[in-house]
Amino acid sequence: MPPILQVRQLYKFFDKRQGAAPVLRDVNFSVEPGEFVCIMGPSGSGKSTLLHMLSGLDAPTAGSIELAGRNLGEMSDGDRTLLRRAQIGYVFQFFNLMPNLNLLENVGLPLAIQGRHPGDHTATIRGLLSRLGLEGKEHQFPHQLSGGEMQRTSIARALAGGQPLLLCDEPTGNLSQKAGAEVMAFLRQICDQDHKTVVLVTHNPRDATFADRVLFLVDGALDQEHALHGPKLAVERIHEQLAALHI
Ligand SMILES: Nc1ncnc2c1ncn2[C@@H]1O[C@H](COP(=O)(O)OP(=O)(O)OP(=O)(O)O)[C@@H](O)[C@H]1O
Ligand SMILES: [Mg+2]
Repeated sequence: MPPILQVRQLYKFFDKRQGAAPVLRDVNFSVEPGEFVCIMGPSGSGKSTLLHMLSGLDAPTAGSIELAGRNLGEMSDGDRTLLRRAQIGYVFQFFNLMPNLNLLENVGLPLAIQGRHPGDHTATIRGLLSRLGLEGKEHQFPHQLSGGEMQRTSIARALAGGQPLLLCDEPTGNLSQKAGAEVMAFLRQICDQDHKTVVLVTHNPRDATFADRVLFLVDGALDQEHALHGPKLAVERIHEQLAALHI
C-alpha cells in the first residue's frame, strides 16, 4: 500500500523578509497506513504548523504533501477540503467543542459536514462514546465535562466520520497525568484494533512511548537519523534522545 502521507522538501516561512529563518526547513517523511507516528519538538518548533499543513488547512511555502496519494498543492481549494473531510479526523489541543451542542450533537457534527444525517448514525455515535467511557453523558454539554471527558469527546468526534487518518495536536496537553494516559491508551487501541493511522505531536515523553516511531523536530528540521522505533519505547530512551538533541 502507498503511504497515507508523503512529505517532500517542505519549507514554511511566516516571515518573508530576506534572511529570515523558516519555521520548517527541508522536512521529509512518510507515514504508512496503520502506523502510529509521534513528532516531538519544543514549544514554537513548528509542530502545529506542520499538522495544519498535513491537513491542507495551511499551505507550505515550498515542497509537497501527498495525502492518500494526492498532491495537496495541485488541488483546488474545494477538492482539498473534500479530501480532508474524507481522510482526516483532527484532535485539537483545546478540544474545540461547540458549547451549545450536547455530546451526541458534537460527535455527529463531522457526519453533518460530510452531508450525512447524524440521526442515521446514532448507534455508531453512542458506540464510540461508550468505548471512550462517556456512556450516560450523551445529553450533557461541554461545560458539564472534565478536561479528560472533553478530550475524549473530541476524539469520538474525530472518529465519527470514519476517516482513516487521525492528526492529534498535543491531545494530552491540558489533561492530568491519569486522564492523559487514558487518552493515549485509547489512541493506541484504535490504531491496533481499528487500523487507523495516527500522527501525534507532543512534547510529553510519556505520550511518545505509545508510538511505533518517534521523529524529532530540531531547529525546523525533522531529524530522521535520530528517530526512535517502537513499539513499547521506554520513557528513559525518549528522555535520553531529547537530551542528546538539546530539546
Ligand atoms: N500564522 C502565523 N503567523 C506568523 N507566525 C506564526 C504563525 N503560526 C505560527 N507562527 C510561528 O511559527 C512558529 C511555530 O509555531 P507553532 O505553533 O507551529 O509551534 P508549536 O511547535 O506547535 O508550539 P507549541 O508546542 O507551543 O504548541 C512560532 O514561532 C510561531 O510564532
Ligand atoms: Mg502547537
